[in-house]
Amino acid sequence: MPIEKQTSLINLTPLNWFNILTAWSVAKKIFKKEAMDILICYSGSLLPRWLWPKINRDAISELNYFIAMKDNQPVGITGLYTTHNQPEEVWLAWFGLNEKLRGRGLGKELMVATIDMARKHGYQSLRLWTTANEEPFIVANYLYQKLGFIAQETDLKSYGFPVLIYSLGLSGITPPLYKADMTTTIGGTDSNTKSHNSIFRILFRLYCKQ
Ligand SMILES: CC(C)(COP(=O)(O)OP(=O)(O)OC[C@H]1O[C@@H](n2cnc3c(N)ncnc32)[C@H](O)[C@@H]1OP(=O)(O)O)[C@@H](O)C(=O)NCCC(=O)NCCS
Repeated sequence: MPIEKQTSLINLTPLNWFNILTAWSVAKKIFKKEAMDILICYSGSLLPRWLWPKINRDAISELNYFIAMKDNQPVGITGLYTTHNQPEEVWLAWFGLNEKLRGRGLGKELMVATIDMARKHGYQSLRLWTTANEEPFIVANYLYQKLGFIAQETDLKSYGFPVLIYSLGLSGITPPLYKADMTTTIGGTDSNTKSHNSIFRILFRLYCKQ
């Protein structure tokens, strides 16, 4: 994905081998429990695809992470990836803002910049999954709703909290509900964690808490 000018005050700088440690130092403060997962995701995204595990290679068609920069300072992280199965949709990956900068609209700006990036690349919808009622993700749920994402309940749980899928149409069309075969139980953080299919299992690995 090429670098593009952003309309937001936040600039999204693509992850590369020179800034990966900067990105990780921001990321690991936001997602403390998942620090090692993020490092694996970040470095994996920069490696040639033939080095990826087959399960990821077969599922993921594009995987791009970004450092959110404001006034030349790293303030947060975001990411986008697509799957071979649904090339018109893009999924959010590792999204968050430095804790000290929260509550003054920057998180919203970061999401707007991410949406702009997805829209410019022609995707029809942006999807993400998160947990409801779990600190520190409660504000994220408000943010998604305020920006017009449509929430969809699932029968999944992560760390005991209900998993929601949020979808946003990027071309003026309401995205269809995410269709899932939620029958396959995967090893998760609790016995209720289930996944639809291998794609969703990869979403767990790439984006959220295992
Ligand atoms: C999610 C996150 C990026 C939001 O950043 P932020 O700077 O705190 O949020 P903002 O100040 O931009 O506020 C976002 C919106 O949420 C709203 N909001 C915040 N707290 C709210 C509350 N208690 N009730 C209702 N709305 C609330 C704000 O009003 C704002 O909407 P508005 O601008 O239309 O008024 C940040 O909290 C974060 O990094 N959290 C941890 C990581 C995370 O949750 N990542 C997502 C994982 S799925």
